[in-house]
Amino acid sequence: MFEFLFPFFLVVLFLIVLSKIWRNNARKYISSDSVASAYDAWTQDKLLERLWGEHIHLGFYPTGKKNIDFRKAKVQFVHELVKWSGLDKLPQGSRILDVGCGIGGSSRILAEYYGFNVTGITISSAQVKRARELTPQRLNCNFQVMDALDLKFEDGSFDAVWSVEAGAHMSDKIRFANEMLRTLRPGGYFALADWNSRDLGAYPPSFFEKLVLKQLLEQWVHPNFISINEFSNIIRTNENSSGRVSSENWNSYTNPSWYDSIIEGIRRPSVILSLGPFAIVKSIREIPTILLMNWAFRKGLMEFGVYKCRG
Ligand SMILES: C[S@@+](CC[C@H](N)C(=O)[O-])C[C@H]1O[C@@H](n2cnc3c(N)ncnc32)[C@H](O)[C@@H]1O
Repeated sequence: MFEFLFPFFLVVLFLIVLSKIWRNNARKYISSDSVASAYDAWTQDKLLERLWGEHIHLGFYPTGKKNIDFRKAKVQFVHELVKWSGLDKLPQGSRILDVGCGIGGSSRILAEYYGFNVTGITISSAQVKRARELTPQRLNCNFQVMDALDLKFEDGSFDAVWSVEAGAHMSDKIRFANEMLRTLRPGGYFALADWNSRDLGAYPPSFFEKLVLKQLLEQWVHPNFISINEFSNIIRTNENSSGRVSSENWNSYTNPSWYDSIIEGIRRPSVILSLGPFAIVKSIREIPTILLMNWAFRKGLMEFGVYKCRG
Protein backbone atom coordinates (compact mmCIF):
# COMPACT_ATOMS: atom_id res chain seq x y z
CA MET A 1 0.00 0.00 0.00
CA PHE A 2 2.75 2.43 1.08
CA GLU A 3 4.73 1.64 -2.08
CA PHE A 4 1.68 2.42 -4.12
CA LEU A 5 1.04 5.77 -2.38
CA PHE A 6 4.67 6.93 -2.22
CA PRO A 7 4.87 8.38 -5.77
CA PHE A 8 1.55 10.11 -5.15
CA PHE A 9 2.92 11.72 -1.95
CA LEU A 10 6.03 12.79 -3.83
CA VAL A 11 3.95 14.53 -6.52
CA VAL A 12 1.81 16.29 -3.88
CA LEU A 13 4.93 17.37 -1.98
CA PHE A 14 6.49 18.66 -5.20
CA LEU A 15 3.35 20.68 -6.00
CA ILE A 16 3.22 22.12 -2.48
CA VAL A 17 6.88 23.19 -2.70
CA LEU A 18 6.29 24.70 -6.16
CA SER A 19 3.26 26.65 -5.00
CA LYS A 20 5.20 27.87 -1.92
CA ILE A 21 8.01 29.14 -4.16
CA TRP A 22 5.42 30.77 -6.46
CA ARG A 23 3.63 32.48 -3.60
CA ASN A 24 6.79 33.53 -1.75
CA ASN A 25 8.05 35.21 -4.90
CA ALA A 26 4.77 37.02 -5.51
CA ARG A 27 5.01 40.61 -6.63
CA LYS A 28 2.67 42.22 -4.14
CA TYR A 29 1.70 45.86 -4.51
CA ILE A 30 3.19 47.96 -1.70
CA SER A 31 3.51 51.36 -3.37
CA SER A 32 4.25 52.83 -6.80
CA ASP A 33 7.88 51.86 -6.09
CA SER A 34 6.98 48.17 -6.06
CA VAL A 35 5.33 48.63 -9.49
CA ALA A 36 8.44 50.45 -10.74
CA SER A 37 10.74 47.65 -9.54
CA ALA A 38 8.58 44.95 -11.13
CA TYR A 39 8.55 46.73 -14.52
CA ASP A 40 12.26 47.56 -14.28
CA ALA A 41 12.96 43.85 -13.81
CA TRP A 42 10.54 42.78 -16.59
CA THR A 43 12.22 45.28 -18.94
CA GLN A 44 15.81 44.52 -18.05
CA ASP A 45 15.52 40.74 -18.42
CA LYS A 46 14.17 41.35 -21.99
CA LEU A 47 11.93 38.30 -21.81
CA LEU A 48 8.60 40.12 -22.25
CA GLU A 49 9.82 42.21 -25.15
CA ARG A 50 11.46 39.33 -27.01
CA LEU A 51 8.39 37.12 -26.57
CA TRP A 52 5.50 39.54 -26.93
CA GLY A 53 7.05 42.53 -28.70
CA GLU A 54 6.89 46.20 -27.77
CA HIS A 55 3.25 46.25 -26.58
CA ILE A 56 2.51 45.15 -23.01
CA HIS A 57 -1.22 44.75 -23.51
CA LEU A 58 -3.75 42.32 -24.90
CA GLY A 59 -4.51 41.93 -28.59
CA PHE A 60 -7.74 42.65 -30.44
CA TYR A 61 -9.21 39.67 -32.34
CA PRO A 62 -12.15 40.97 -34.41
CA THR A 63 -13.99 37.64 -34.52
CA GLY A 64 -13.16 36.70 -30.95
CA LYS A 65 -11.15 33.77 -32.33
CA LYS A 66 -7.43 33.23 -32.60
CA ASN A 67 -7.08 33.95 -36.30
CA ILE A 68 -4.39 36.62 -36.31
CA ASP A 69 -0.87 36.74 -34.96
CA PHE A 70 -0.57 37.94 -31.33
CA ARG A 71 1.71 40.86 -32.22
CA LYS A 72 -0.55 41.97 -35.07
CA ALA A 73 -3.55 41.70 -32.74
CA LYS A 74 -1.80 44.10 -30.34
CA VAL A 75 -1.21 46.66 -33.08
CA GLN A 76 -4.82 46.23 -34.16
CA PHE A 77 -5.91 46.87 -30.57
CA VAL A 78 -4.33 50.34 -30.67
CA HIS A 79 -6.07 51.23 -33.96
CA GLU A 80 -9.41 49.90 -32.67
CA LEU A 81 -9.20 51.99 -29.50
CA VAL A 82 -8.22 55.07 -31.53
CA LYS A 83 -11.23 54.56 -33.81
CA TRP A 84 -13.67 53.72 -31.02
CA SER A 85 -12.64 56.68 -28.86
CA GLY A 86 -12.60 59.16 -31.76
CA LEU A 87 -8.94 60.11 -31.44
CA ASP A 88 -8.61 59.78 -35.20
CA LYS A 89 -10.69 62.97 -35.52
CA LEU A 90 -7.83 65.00 -34.02
CA PRO A 91 -5.54 66.81 -36.46
CA GLN A 92 -1.88 65.92 -36.90
CA GLY A 93 0.34 67.57 -34.32
CA SER A 94 -2.23 67.16 -31.53
CA ARG A 95 -0.65 66.72 -28.10
CA ILE A 96 -1.31 63.28 -26.61
CA LEU A 97 -0.43 62.03 -23.12
CA ASP A 98 0.12 58.24 -22.89
CA VAL A 99 -0.24 57.38 -19.20
CA GLY A 100 1.61 54.19 -18.19
CA CYS A 101 3.27 54.00 -21.61
CA GLY A 102 5.37 50.86 -21.09
CA ILE A 103 8.19 50.82 -23.63
CA GLY A 104 6.22 53.09 -25.94
CA GLY A 105 4.34 50.62 -28.17
CA SER A 106 1.13 52.70 -28.36
CA SER A 107 2.98 56.05 -28.30
CA ARG A 108 4.94 55.19 -31.44
CA ILE A 109 1.80 54.12 -33.33
CA LEU A 110 0.01 57.32 -32.28
CA ALA A 111 2.96 59.37 -33.52
CA GLU A 112 3.71 57.37 -36.68
CA TYR A 113 0.23 56.65 -38.10
CA TYR A 114 -1.73 59.62 -36.76
CA GLY A 115 1.02 62.25 -36.73
CA PHE A 116 0.47 63.11 -33.07
CA ASN A 117 2.94 64.71 -30.73
CA VAL A 118 3.12 62.16 -27.91
CA THR A 119 4.38 62.35 -24.35
CA GLY A 120 4.61 58.95 -22.67
CA ILE A 121 5.01 58.59 -18.92
CA THR A 122 5.73 55.49 -16.85
CA ILE A 123 6.83 54.81 -13.30
CA SER A 124 9.66 52.57 -14.55
CA SER A 125 12.98 54.22 -15.44
CA ALA A 126 14.11 51.08 -17.30
CA GLN A 127 11.02 51.39 -19.53
CA VAL A 128 11.78 55.04 -20.30
CA LYS A 129 15.33 54.11 -21.28
CA ARG A 130 14.10 51.28 -23.53
CA ALA A 131 11.28 53.40 -25.02
CA ARG A 132 13.84 56.05 -26.02
CA GLU A 133 16.12 53.40 -27.58
CA LEU A 134 13.23 51.98 -29.63
CA THR A 135 11.89 55.32 -30.88
CA PRO A 136 13.29 56.76 -34.13
CA GLN A 137 14.30 60.45 -33.97
CA ARG A 138 11.82 61.36 -36.71
CA LEU A 139 8.84 60.59 -34.42
CA ASN A 140 7.41 63.25 -32.14
CA CYS A 141 7.58 61.14 -29.00
CA ASN A 142 9.17 61.87 -25.68
CA PHE A 143 9.24 59.69 -22.60
CA GLN A 144 9.54 60.61 -18.94
CA VAL A 145 9.57 58.85 -15.58
CA MET A 146 6.54 60.13 -13.70
CA ASP A 147 3.90 58.87 -11.31
CA ALA A 148 0.44 58.89 -12.90
CA LEU A 149 -0.95 59.85 -9.51
CA ASP A 150 1.11 63.05 -9.49
CA LEU A 151 1.39 64.33 -13.08
CA LYS A 152 3.80 67.24 -13.50
CA PHE A 153 1.83 68.95 -16.28
CA GLU A 154 -0.28 72.11 -16.25
CA ASP A 155 -4.07 71.82 -16.37
CA GLY A 156 -5.41 71.30 -19.91
CA SER A 157 -1.99 70.58 -21.45
CA PHE A 158 -3.16 67.80 -23.79
CA ASP A 159 -5.64 67.36 -26.65
CA ALA A 160 -6.07 63.71 -25.70
CA VAL A 161 -5.18 61.47 -22.78
CA TRP A 162 -4.64 57.78 -23.53
CA SER A 163 -3.98 54.95 -21.11
CA VAL A 164 -3.82 51.20 -21.75
CA GLU A 165 -3.77 48.61 -18.97
CA ALA A 166 -2.13 50.85 -16.38
CA GLY A 167 -5.08 51.62 -14.09
CA ALA A 168 -5.10 48.23 -12.36
CA HIS A 169 -1.73 49.22 -10.83
CA MET A 170 -3.13 52.42 -9.28
CA SER A 171 -4.01 52.30 -5.60
CA ASP A 172 -6.22 55.40 -5.87
CA LYS A 173 -8.46 55.19 -8.95
CA ILE A 174 -10.13 58.56 -8.22
CA ARG A 175 -6.83 60.36 -8.12
CA PHE A 176 -5.72 58.48 -11.26
CA ALA A 177 -8.81 59.77 -13.11
CA ASN A 178 -8.46 63.27 -11.57
CA GLU A 179 -4.89 63.64 -12.75
CA MET A 180 -5.61 62.45 -16.30
CA LEU A 181 -8.73 64.60 -16.71
CA ARG A 182 -7.05 67.64 -15.15
CA THR A 183 -4.35 67.58 -17.82
CA LEU A 184 -6.91 67.14 -20.64
CA ARG A 185 -8.04 70.37 -22.31
CA PRO A 186 -11.78 71.16 -22.40
CA GLY A 187 -13.25 69.33 -25.39
CA GLY A 188 -10.22 66.99 -25.61
CA TYR A 189 -10.47 63.20 -26.03
CA PHE A 190 -10.04 60.64 -23.27
CA ALA A 191 -9.44 56.97 -24.15
CA LEU A 192 -8.66 54.28 -21.63
CA ALA A 193 -8.53 50.48 -21.51
CA ASP A 194 -8.11 48.52 -18.31
CA TRP A 195 -8.56 45.27 -16.41
CA ASN A 196 -11.61 45.35 -14.18
CA SER A 197 -13.36 42.91 -11.92
CA ARG A 198 -17.09 42.35 -12.33
CA ASP A 199 -19.22 44.30 -9.86
CA LEU A 200 -18.24 42.36 -6.74
CA GLY A 201 -20.72 44.25 -4.53
CA ALA A 202 -23.69 43.20 -6.64
CA TYR A 203 -22.27 39.73 -7.47
CA PRO A 204 -20.05 38.67 -4.55
CA PRO A 205 -17.22 36.26 -5.40
CA SER A 206 -17.35 32.63 -4.33
CA PHE A 207 -14.63 31.23 -2.07
CA PHE A 208 -12.71 29.95 -5.10
CA GLU A 209 -13.09 33.26 -6.98
CA LYS A 210 -11.71 35.10 -3.95
CA LEU A 211 -8.60 32.87 -4.07
CA VAL A 212 -8.20 33.55 -7.78
CA LEU A 213 -8.56 37.32 -7.32
CA LYS A 214 -5.99 37.25 -4.52
CA GLN A 215 -3.47 35.59 -6.85
CA LEU A 216 -4.22 37.99 -9.71
CA LEU A 217 -3.59 40.91 -7.38
CA GLU A 218 -0.50 39.54 -5.68
CA GLN A 219 1.34 38.09 -8.66
CA TRP A 220 1.39 41.19 -10.86
CA VAL A 221 1.55 44.18 -8.45
CA HIS A 222 -2.11 45.14 -8.52
CA PRO A 223 -3.47 46.91 -5.42
CA ASN A 224 -7.14 46.35 -6.32
CA PHE A 225 -9.58 45.95 -9.19
CA ILE A 226 -12.82 47.86 -9.59
CA SER A 227 -15.74 47.27 -11.93
CA ILE A 228 -16.39 48.97 -15.26
CA ASN A 229 -19.40 50.73 -13.74
CA GLU A 230 -17.42 52.00 -10.78
CA PHE A 231 -14.69 53.46 -12.99
CA SER A 232 -17.26 54.92 -15.41
CA ASN A 233 -18.88 56.69 -12.47
CA ILE A 234 -15.54 58.05 -11.34
CA ILE A 235 -15.01 59.59 -14.78
CA ARG A 236 -18.62 60.75 -15.13
CA THR A 237 -18.58 62.66 -11.84
CA ASN A 238 -15.15 64.24 -12.39
CA GLU A 239 -15.31 68.03 -12.61
CA ASN A 240 -13.14 68.06 -15.75
CA SER A 241 -15.09 65.51 -17.77
CA SER A 242 -18.08 66.37 -19.94
CA GLY A 243 -19.99 63.74 -17.94
CA ARG A 244 -20.88 61.77 -21.06
CA VAL A 245 -18.90 58.58 -20.63
CA SER A 246 -19.17 55.47 -22.78
CA SER A 247 -17.76 52.15 -21.69
CA GLU A 248 -17.77 48.64 -23.13
CA ASN A 249 -16.59 45.20 -22.13
CA TRP A 250 -14.12 43.93 -24.76
CA ASN A 251 -13.59 40.46 -23.24
CA SER A 252 -14.75 38.70 -26.38
CA TYR A 253 -12.25 40.62 -28.56
CA THR A 254 -9.28 40.27 -26.21
CA ASN A 255 -9.68 36.86 -24.52
CA PRO A 256 -7.72 34.88 -27.17
CA SER A 257 -4.63 36.84 -26.03
CA TRP A 258 -4.20 34.73 -22.92
CA TYR A 259 -3.54 31.42 -24.65
CA ASP A 260 -1.70 33.28 -27.38
CA SER A 261 0.74 34.70 -24.86
CA ILE A 262 1.68 31.15 -23.82
CA ILE A 263 1.75 29.86 -27.41
CA GLU A 264 4.28 32.60 -28.30
CA GLY A 265 6.73 30.93 -25.89
CA ILE A 266 6.19 27.55 -27.55
CA ARG A 267 6.47 29.05 -31.04
CA ARG A 268 9.66 30.89 -30.18
CA PRO A 269 11.53 28.58 -27.77
CA SER A 270 14.87 29.93 -29.02
CA VAL A 271 13.95 33.36 -27.63
CA ILE A 272 13.65 31.94 -24.13
CA LEU A 273 16.61 29.57 -24.45
CA SER A 274 18.87 32.34 -25.77
CA LEU A 275 18.29 34.34 -22.59
CA GLY A 276 19.66 31.52 -20.42
CA PRO A 277 18.32 29.04 -17.84
CA PHE A 278 16.79 31.74 -15.60
CA ALA A 279 14.61 32.90 -18.47
CA ILE A 280 13.15 29.40 -18.72
CA VAL A 281 12.29 29.42 -15.01
CA LYS A 282 10.93 32.97 -15.24
CA SER A 283 8.69 32.18 -18.19
CA ILE A 284 7.32 29.00 -16.58
CA ARG A 285 6.69 31.01 -13.42
CA GLU A 286 4.23 33.32 -15.26
CA ILE A 287 2.14 30.49 -16.72
CA PRO A 288 -0.14 29.85 -13.68
CA THR A 289 -1.04 33.56 -13.50
CA ILE A 290 -1.74 33.70 -17.24
CA LEU A 291 -3.99 30.62 -16.94
CA LEU A 292 -5.82 32.12 -13.95
CA MET A 293 -6.29 35.38 -15.89
CA ASN A 294 -7.63 33.41 -18.82
CA TRP A 295 -10.07 31.58 -16.55
CA ALA A 296 -11.18 34.78 -14.78
CA PHE A 297 -11.77 36.73 -18.01
CA ARG A 298 -13.61 33.81 -19.66
CA LYS A 299 -15.85 33.32 -16.64
CA GLY A 300 -16.58 37.04 -16.41
CA LEU A 301 -14.95 37.43 -12.99
CA MET A 302 -12.62 39.88 -14.76
CA GLU A 303 -13.71 42.29 -17.48
CA PHE A 304 -11.70 44.17 -20.08
CA GLY A 305 -13.14 47.69 -19.86
CA VAL A 306 -12.72 50.42 -22.45
CA TYR A 307 -13.81 53.99 -21.74
CA LYS A 308 -14.17 57.18 -23.73
CA CYS A 309 -15.31 60.68 -22.90
CA ARG A 310 -14.56 64.32 -23.76
CA GLY A 311 -12.97 66.87 -21.51
C1 LIG B 1 0.63 46.56 -18.48
S1 LIG B 1 1.76 47.86 -18.71
C2 LIG B 1 1.05 48.68 -20.09
C3 LIG B 1 2.08 49.47 -20.85
C4 LIG B 1 1.60 50.19 -22.10
N1 LIG B 1 0.44 51.01 -21.84
C5 LIG B 1 1.33 49.22 -23.20
O1 LIG B 1 0.15 49.03 -23.46
O2 LIG B 1 2.28 48.66 -23.77
C6 LIG B 1 1.39 48.97 -17.34
C7 LIG B 1 2.16 50.25 -17.37
O3 LIG B 1 1.67 51.12 -16.35
C8 LIG B 1 2.80 51.75 -15.75
N2 LIG B 1 2.44 52.22 -14.40
C9 LIG B 1 1.96 51.50 -13.38
N3 LIG B 1 1.77 52.28 -12.30
C10 LIG B 1 2.14 53.54 -12.66
C11 LIG B 1 2.16 54.79 -12.01
N4 LIG B 1 1.78 54.94 -10.73
N5 LIG B 1 2.59 55.86 -12.71
C12 LIG B 1 2.99 55.74 -14.00
N6 LIG B 1 2.99 54.58 -14.66
C13 LIG B 1 2.57 53.48 -14.01
C14 LIG B 1 3.84 50.67 -15.74
O4 LIG B 1 5.12 51.21 -15.50
C15 LIG B 1 3.65 50.11 -17.14
O5 LIG B 1 4.35 50.90 -18.05
